Amino acid sequence: MLKITVCVSGGGTNLQAIIDSVRSGELKNVEIVRVISNNPNAYALERAKQNGIDAVCVSPKTFENREAFNAAFLDALKASGADLVVLAGFLVVIPEIVINEYRGRMINIHPSLIPSFCGTGYYGLKVHEAALKRGVKITGATVHYVDEGTDTGPIIMQKAVEVKEGDTPEILQRRVMEEAEWIILPKSIGMIAQKGFGK
Ligand code: GAR
Repeated sequence: MLKITVCVSGGGTNLQAIIDSVRSGELKNVEIVRVISNNPNAYALERAKQNGIDAVCVSPKTFENREAFNAAFLDALKASGADLVVLAGFLVVIPEIVINEYRGRMINIHPSLIPSFCGTGYYGLKVHEAALKRGVKITGATVHYVDEGTDTGPIIMQKAVEVKEGDTPEILQRRVMEEAEWIILPKSIGMIAQKGFGK
C-alpha cells in the first residue's frame, strides 16, 4: 500500500479527483494518510474532513520565521508516514530540507505543458492568462517530480488540451482540469503505486 500525503492551498479539486479515484477502486493500493494546507481557509481541508482524512494546517503566518515554518512543514510530512508527497495546487516554495528528504518521492501537478508557461510566477489562473495571451492552440497539464527548481523536475505524465475560440482564463482552467489534471494526477500516483519510483 502506497501511503500518500497531499499538500493543498485552495479549492482542492485535484485532491477530490484522487479521493474519488481511490474510492472507485480505479486507484489501487493507495491510501491518503494526510492532507496538509498552508491556508487555514482552504476548502480542500473541508474535503479532507468530509472524507475522514487527517487534515492539518501548517501556516507560515503562525511561525516566527521561514525556517521555523519549514521545519514544522517537514515535521508534518514525516509524521504522516507518507511514502509519496503529492503537491496538488500547493502554492508554497518547497524548502531545500523538504526536497532533500523527499527527493524522487514528491510530485507536482502544473496546469500547462512544461516547459511552456511554468517557473516562477506561473501558478493557477496566471498560467492560463499567459497561454491565452500568447495565442497557443494547445495547452494541457504536466505531472513531474519536484527538484530544487520551479517546475524543472523530471516529467512523469502530460496531457494536451485544446484552446478554443472565445476561451477566458477561467473557462480554459476548467477544461484543463477536467480533461487533463483530474486524469493524469491519479494516473501518475497509480503508476508509482504499481511500478515504484522513478520508472
Ligand atoms: C490546479 O490547476 C493546479 O494545477 C494549479 O493550481 C490549481 C489548484 O486547483 N497548480 C499550480 O499552478 C502549481 N504551479 P485545485 O485546488 O482545485 O486542485
